[in-house]
Amino acid sequence: MKIIVVGGGGTIGQRLVPALRSHGHDVVVAGRTSGDLHVDLLSHTSIEAMYREAGAVDSVVSVAAHGLLDEFAALTADALHENTRAKFFGQADLVLTGQHHCADGASFTLTSGIFADQAWPHATGGGVISGALHSFTLSAAIELPRGMRINVVSPTMVGDSTEAFSPRFPGMRPVPMDELVTHYLDCVEGTDTGRIIRAYG
Ligand SMILES: NC(=O)c1ccc[n+]([C@@H]2O[C@H](COP(=O)([O-])OP(=O)(O)OC[C@H]3O[C@@H](n4cnc5c(N)ncnc54)[C@H](OP(=O)(O)O)[C@@H]3O)[C@@H](O)[C@H]2O)c1
Repeated sequence: MKIIVVGGGGTIGQRLVPALRSHGHDVVVAGRTSGDLHVDLLSHTSIEAMYREAGAVDSVVSVAAHGLLDEFAALTADALHENTRAKFFGQADLVLTGQHHCADGASFTLTSGIFADQAWPHATGGGVISGALHSFTLSAAIELPRGMRINVVSPTMVGDSTEAFSPRFPGMRPVPMDELVTHYLDCVEGTDTGRIIRAYG
């Protein structure tokens, strides 16, 4: 399969891309500054350009962009909206635009996160983004044309981020990288659609 991995140069991507290649897939890595193709999830024009350059692909995996931590007492609607732009609207745009460019039967695999289901201090934006991605996935799964599929992987803190993130999220148990990568491989190579895969360790 020809697969675009948006954010393939990141922490999850650096594990996922070699695994996809070892399964014989032709992987194109896309990132803001890294990768074979450049794309900014904040820009619809950039997403269109990425698809035009890549040609018809069989699978799009997004492991890109983060929600920012916030301070509820100081949070404003504008700041919340701004926080959702890359990770929610950018990933939604990958699907909304991609449905017109990708091959018949193509799959989309997005990434959300545990805060959709578990409240955590300073993660209102992260929760809103991930909850919205789950709802978007359910709707898209019944509307996508030409046999296309969509799933979303919702990780807790991932194994390779433990050192960086555990001071911010004390007590959170990480999901092992191998287990996480297997979820993405299943989404790409399987037949499921509309699934929210809760990789909560
Ligand atoms: N790491 C965790 O513990 C964890 C837990 C739960 C959920 N997640 C989610 O999993 C996803 C990947 O996480 P990660 O830790 O692998 O991220 P990461 O190491 O920070 O890497 C992020 C990747 O996304 C790309 N990117 C960032 N902003 C972008 C934008 N506006 N447009 C296009 N590409 C952009 C970066 O490309 P450049 O370097 O070229 O800018 C980079 O390749 C994120 O959505 C994150 O919230 C991660």
